[in-house]
Amino acid sequence: MQELSILILHGPNLNLLGKREPGVYGTVTLDEINQLLEREAEALQVKISPFQSNHEGALVDAIHAAMGQHQGLLINAGAYTHTSVAIRDAIAAVAIPTVEVHLSNIYKREEFRHHSYIAPVSIGQISGFGAQSYWLGLIALVNHLKKPV
Ligand code: DQA
Repeated sequence: MQELSILILHGPNLNLLGKREPGVYGTVTLDEINQLLEREAEALQVKISPFQSNHEGALVDAIHAAMGQHQGLLINAGAYTHTSVAIRDAIAAVAIPTVEVHLSNIYKREEFRHHSYIAPVSIGQISGFGAQSYWLGLIALVNHLKKPV
């Protein structure tokens, strides 16, 4: 069987991780998160392709381009989680199994963060475990792809 390929999408402001509101998001940088995911991907024997953008359209384009290229999508859409019908529709359109992750527990925070447009088009969501949310999300996504429950 061909190796599974997972697209990892990081949305707006996540390029500033490490410096950005460390009390909320911790001190781990985006590069360190990608390295953590790379190590786990090797252990799981899957391929990952990380991409970060601060632009909604670039994220939509990346989701479209995933068709036929990637079998799973791990996404932290950042603030677009709470605003973007376009990203939600792109995920629904390509029908690639998706796991939504957040560093912070969005349900413990301001009310405007309690709603996710991404959740209804995702297999599931992991929120509140810092950098580990990505790690848990990758494992959950790969388990689902290898053996859907
Ligand atoms: C976030 C939570 C969002 O509400 C916020 O806008 C972010 C990061 C998280 O990972 O905790 O940019 O997605």
